[in-house]
Amino acid sequence: MAKPISLEKILFSQGFGTRRYCSDLVYADLVKVNGVVAEDPEERIPTEGLILNVEGKDWEYHEKAYIAFNKPPNYECSHKTTHHPSIYSLLPAPFVERGLQCVGRLDYDTTGLLLISDDGQFIHKMTTPKKNIGKVYEITTPDPITQYQIDHLMNGVILDDDPRPCYATACKQVSENVLAMTIVEGRYHQVKRMMAAVGNHVAKLHRTEIGAYVMPADLAEGQWRWLYEDDLKQLSQSVDAK
Ligand code: URA
Repeated sequence: MAKPISLEKILFSQGFGTRRYCSDLVYADLVKVNGVVAEDPEERIPTEGLILNVEGKDWEYHEKAYIAFNKPPNYECSHKTTHHPSIYSLLPAPFVERGLQCVGRLDYDTTGLLLISDDGQFIHKMTTPKKNIGKVYEITTPDPITQYQIDHLMNGVILDDDPRPCYATACKQVSENVLAMTIVEGRYHQVKRMMAAVGNHVAKLHRTEIGAYVMPADLAEGQWRWLYEDDLKQLSQSVDAK
């Protein structure tokens, strides 16, 4: 069982502001601990299964945050964006405050599964090329996808900035113009450039899987959800199996 921690420290760790601000939230009766209004920011509280309510919104305590997000189009994956709004503007403010980062970015026009966390080791483990974690992309093309193109993707294509070939590790034709392709690397605009290299084009790109984690069918575009112990176990199996 984890050691109880002071409420002020808990609120700070979750991204609710400076320690002073977190104390003031408690003094202003704006914090509930497991449904009961808290009075003392110094009170030590067990964190296991803890549900806070801050300014009227419930918040599950997580020592480290791991979330799955269904990215909509026309959002950038960085904190400091250039042309489009940031995906972080769609997430609760405490996530930004506590420095959550994407586990591998998607282009602004790509949609689908993003994992986001403030656990640096987890992010490194999931993104290091050595681990060969498969990512599945659903690719919609304007021109019909041919068997020749699929063979070419599986046998490897050369992209212009690197002499090492880039492979699809699996391809499943979903329909004439839709291909589900798995890749293990994360080179710049990799899928778009691979499709261009085999003479087709990406009209729409959507990520559906990272390792053993599949986008939940009920996670609507623009929505996020916590990853729990079982999800993380599943993800770490995709890493440790390599
Ligand atoms: N490959 C791309 O070309 N774009 C993405 O967003 C992800 C993979």
